[in-house]
Amino acid sequence: MATEQPRITIFDTTLRDGEQSPGCSMNHPEKLRLAHQLDRLGVDVIEAGFPIASDGDFAAVKAIAGLVRRPIIAGLARACRPDIERAWEALKDAARPRIHVFLATSDIHLQYKLRITRDQCLAQARESVAFAKSLCDDVEFSPEDATRTDPEFLCKVLEAVVEAGATTLNIPDTVGFTVPAEFGELISTLRQRVKGIESVTLSAHCHNDLGMAVANTMAAVAAGARQVECTINGIGERAGNAALEEIVMAMRVRRDRYPYESRIEGGQLFAASQMLSEIIGVPVQPNKAVTGRNAFAHEAGIHQDGVLKNPLTYEIMTPQSVGVPDSRLVLGKHSGRHALSIRCEQLGYQFDRRALDDIYRRFVRLADKIKHVEDHHLLELIRETHKPAASATPLFEPLATAVAAAVSVPAQEAQRPFPLVPQTNAFGLPLPLPAEQHHEQEDYLWGV
Ligand code: KIV
Ligand code: ZN
Repeated sequence: MATEQPRITIFDTTLRDGEQSPGCSMNHPEKLRLAHQLDRLGVDVIEAGFPIASDGDFAAVKAIAGLVRRPIIAGLARACRPDIERAWEALKDAARPRIHVFLATSDIHLQYKLRITRDQCLAQARESVAFAKSLCDDVEFSPEDATRTDPEFLCKVLEAVVEAGATTLNIPDTVGFTVPAEFGELISTLRQRVKGIESVTLSAHCHNDLGMAVANTMAAVAAGARQVECTINGIGERAGNAALEEIVMAMRVRRDRYPYESRIEGGQLFAASQMLSEIIGVPVQPNKAVTGRNAFAHEAGIHQDGVLKNPLTYEIMTPQSVGVPDSRLVLGKHSGRHALSIRCEQLGYQFDRRALDDIYRRFVRLADKIKHVEDHHLLELIRETHKPAASATPLFEPLATAVAAAVSVPAQEAQRPFPLVPQTNAFGLPLPLPAEQHHEQEDYLWGV
């Protein structure tokens, strides 16, 4: 019988921590659109904004609270009455509101930023959480810069806010300073030392300044954190926050190491990533884990051959599991015949072995000149290859020279037989060839 795995609460802060990063601001309708996508994605908590920060933020939190009814809607507040009141005003119509109160606890923040003593900090944390609790049952507290806070003092503050009614304790690595083993130890220490911690949810909030936000988050989960705070595409202050899609897929792909569940609908990850990128006008880096356009692309011939035979050879998750429409084989100078012939078939051309050899030689010459051979280049090349050289008319002007050079071979070589007429189904799509006609040889051996 399958045992139930602990469930991790996914707290998305794309609309708050993400939105406050440079170049990532969103207008009201855009925030609503993304909030609905986060709902479809299945996040448990949407941090919709920081209501006191601006009238726009207030209005967005209020609108999301009114329209998005399944997830918890959180609003951020500093540890003071005006912030908390404003947050509550924006949240009070939500089906499931949460006030998120934060106060820095590290000496460097107390001394230089807030100019208060540790005792004042302790009192302020306690009082603000008690006030938030008087308005809302669900109160989260974050000791800002927790990872650079004296652990003794951190335990004291956390104990005080649990007593005052906090239901979630979020531990932020505000400046992305910690490393996985250290952060895991901190979470374990808090679980052992903070009285009452067993009755609240422990959460991790990691920034990516050293590129370890996701690794630190996973270490926290392994040490007992049951909520993770993250953003789509990892957007956020400076180097960003832990990326939601990476955390979720790490738990799915490495269930052996991270035996935890989330309610995320994997098939919506790519759509969420694309929607955010389109809204903020910031492209997803091509090699971004899980949702980058190269995450499921294979160019090297050996890899392409393996993936075509069995995707598990080079893919640890399926493109479908994260909502990427299809695995894309990138045709470039490292590609082999196997990938080329599959792409030709997808374009409606089936070649016998000799014809494919011919196309392949020309393809390699072209790929040497341009980085990626797109479908339209390939179509042009196929047409050029199977025309008498003298009457060749390039179909795509910008590439005319490169293609013409790639196909300018001796006349007798250009006079190859035309491709077999593709067998098509009722919808005009090419029918697959019988298995034995496929790929008789290891393509990468041909390609080298
Ligand atoms: O990074 C941080 O400390 C924060 C808090 C407000 C949770 O974003
Ligand atoms: Zn943050």
